[in-house]
Amino acid sequence: MGRFGAGVLGRRDTGVLPDGPAVLACTGLSRSFGGVHALRGVDLELDPGRTLAIIGPNGAGKSSLINVLTGLYAPSSGTVTLDGTDLRRTSMADRTRAGLMRTFQGNRIFGTLTVGACLAIGLEAPRARAGRHDVGSLAADFGLEALLDRPVKDLPYGIQKILNLAMVAASRPRVLLLDEPFAGVHADGVERLSAVIDDFRTAGVAVGVVEHNIAALMRIADDVVVLDSGRLIFRGTPTEAEVSPVVREAYLGASAARGGAA
Ligand SMILES: Nc1ncnc2c1ncn2[C@@H]1O[C@H](COP(=O)(O)OP(=O)(O)O)[C@@H](O)[C@H]1O
Ligand SMILES: [Mg+2]
Repeated sequence: MGRFGAGVLGRRDTGVLPDGPAVLACTGLSRSFGGVHALRGVDLELDPGRTLAIIGPNGAGKSSLINVLTGLYAPSSGTVTLDGTDLRRTSMADRTRAGLMRTFQGNRIFGTLTVGACLAIGLEAPRARAGRHDVGSLAADFGLEALLDRPVKDLPYGIQKILNLAMVAASRPRVLLLDEPFAGVHADGVERLSAVIDDFRTAGVAVGVVEHNIAALMRIADDVVVLDSGRLIFRGTPTEAEVSPVVREAYLGASAARGGAA
């Protein structure tokens, strides 16, 4: 049972997300950096109320995929659509205003500020202003109410990441892309973060997660795609991914190339 889905994301009032659930899709998506083909002809879809795991070895193109989907980088070719609307001419800021949001690898939150100040900043975002939430209710939804006066830098990394997601939730995302949310987080933090990510999904958000902690990721994923050298080489369920020779080969191949053991 989600702790915040009904409140923060607006379902209690409307039965749907602020502007309805949204499908994010890309077709033939490619991006090169000089001679490096970071993405090669990727087709995929993120659906409302589902969590898509995006995995693959280092350098496979996972962060590039998030960067191109959100408009940080333009594609070399291919299209990105949000609810069927081509985003070619939509800036990153306007994608955010349409509910397409992300977090970055590592935390980009304000270390010397308090938790309460960070939540207040989150509530100033364009999509958040239409919401009915204040710092207190947002903190309560994420279990942060006892920490409002604490500087962010004094908190465990996992709690900082939950705060980061609380700030994102203030803007009521329709699509949420997370780049390595569990990296550097202890096991109990991973469990709390997993519950929070599940709450977004339950509230109807289309969630995409890039993550190396495959075991934890498979517990929250509905669907899995695997990237390898910029190509999408697998699409299936977590169970199918676990037994797929193609997936195994991608990981073993990468580990062999580094000279490491599986
Ligand atoms: N801004 C960039 N400039 C140059 N090369 C890049 C840039 N971003 C990514 N790449 C290259 O694209 C490939 C894929 O990188 P990335 O998407 O970060 O992989 P992953 O997140 O799966 O580890 C790598 O070879 C990387 O060096
Ligand atoms: Mg990456």
